[in-house]
Amino acid sequence: MKILVINGPNINMLGLREPEVYGKGSYAQLQEFIWDSFRAEGVEGELFQSNHEGDIVDKIQQAYGNFDGIIINPAAYTHTSVAILDALKAVALPAVEVHISDVGNREDFRQISYAGMACVKTYKGLGFEGYRKALLFLKDYLSGKGNGA
Ligand code: DQA
Repeated sequence: MKILVINGPNINMLGLREPEVYGKGSYAQLQEFIWDSFRAEGVEGELFQSNHEGDIVDKIQQAYGNFDGIIINPAAYTHTSVAILDALKAVALPAVEVHISDVGNREDFRQISYAGMACVKTYKGLGFEGYRKALLFLKDYLSGKGNGA
């Protein structure tokens, strides 16, 4: 089982970036957290971060035939990108959406998620833990054990 984790724009700025919203952990620490979760679950993975919408679309397309599922935090592109939604629909891999902050309790413009329309599950407002929950969910989902936690 191989899972691709995609993080969108400004996630590389974690730690510096609005720590009251996103916490004090850096992107390097998030990567370490995600790798620990993969190791604990015995799942293979790849981590990708980009500030560029087209690069994220390319990466999703390349996942076809190479990965079993996708964990994605499209960051600001969540609320704007039909291209990322279409790419997720095109490859039709099970995808789980993650947001570090609780987007549901933030500005109106964060209330729409295009990518989420192609995802089987969303975790928001759980900080780094959302990525681990997404991994557990996808692992169960892919091994046909129902809909996870
Ligand atoms: C985010 C929430 C988005 O609204 C925001 O644009 C981000 C990060 C989150 O992880 O909470 O960049 O996706």
